Amino acid sequence: QKGGYDTFMLKEIHEQPYAIAETLRGRVEGTDRIILPELDAIHDKFKTFNKAYFVACGTAYHACLSGANILERLTGIPTFTQVASEFRYCDPIVDEKTMCVFVSQSGETADTMAALRLAKEKGCTTIAVANVLGSSISREADHTIYTCAGPEIAVASTKAYTTQLIVLLLLGMYISQALGNENEDYKRIIEGIASLPQHIENILKDEKTFEHYASYLKDLKDTYYIGRSLDYATVLEGALKLKEVSYVHADAYIAGELKHGPIALIEQGSLVIAVATQPNIAAKTISNIQETIARGANVILFTIDGQEVGNVKETYILPDVDPILQSVLVAVPLQLIAYYAAGLKGCDVDKPRNLAKSVTVE
Ligand code: F6R
Repeated sequence: QKGGYDTFMLKEIHEQPYAIAETLRGRVEGTDRIILPELDAIHDKFKTFNKAYFVACGTAYHACLSGANILERLTGIPTFTQVASEFRYCDPIVDEKTMCVFVSQSGETADTMAALRLAKEKGCTTIAVANVLGSSISREADHTIYTCAGPEIAVASTKAYTTQLIVLLLLGMYISQALGNENEDYKRIIEGIASLPQHIENILKDEKTFEHYASYLKDLKDTYYIGRSLDYATVLEGALKLKEVSYVHADAYIAGELKHGPIALIEQGSLVIAVATQPNIAAKTISNIQETIARGANVILFTIDGQEVGNVKETYILPDVDPILQSVLVAVPLQLIAYYAAGLKGCDVDKPRNLAKSVTVE
């Protein structure tokens, strides 16, 4: 059942190249077009939306943060994100000119379901991104796009998350296409999307490296993850993964916020896991990294070629793909760090304490 792996979590981490390829299957045509027949009925309606909302819980919410950033970059539609348990009680200002995207692996999460019903009551166009076929959220949304991750058994979401990122990327590209925004960048991104399964295969070959990175966590109670822009969504997810499976406390910060408070926590031997994959702001994150090193932090850095920093303990260079695709790639090492840290602490990664796979109560 575990396909030769010790745990479902590790199996599911390794299934990501296949899960992503399955999620892309039939949806990318050459280097020209994204095909999402699920949305063809509203192809012409995308022009009418003046706002978009992305709503979900937990890991799926982190996928929303990336998806929203990408949609706004690609289409210029003002885009907001909200955790479902907040959205349903905050009297959101949404109407028939709002498209609302609800992301859920199980398709059964109570808060996400309630948020979806509220958005429908307010006249929004609702789009679900779900993994479980025929699940409640997928049935109630006006339109559903499935991730094709296959069953996810481990409580900690891994392949569901990266396939959610893929669907949200395709959604952004599709809407951009519907608005007539394709350009040269667009073709480059499509080529890059198709190369993601292979890049993840290659990253998985470096598993031992990430197991080594996890050894920095052995005797620590706290960790700090930092990033900016899309990398911030990525580090939020990295920190959540670490907390839930290894019970090591992890906080994720927007790197630029460090000096507004959190840097007070950094002392000799603190561990900072930094992600700097966005060329337009990588240098800014790197300067924040230097500030943590000056206060004694050990830094593990995930970055792109040309952005290396002196004095960090470890640097991992990500493949050269369009910056909007990096969230999918960095997710994998961060999952493996959490996995191996949990192993070092003797935790049951597939069934972390106090957590359930599907949260069907509020
Ligand atoms: C974390 C995790 C949870 C879920 C959240 C939403 O690894 O799995 O944070 O992402 O409970 O669940 P779904 O996606 O089923 O709505």
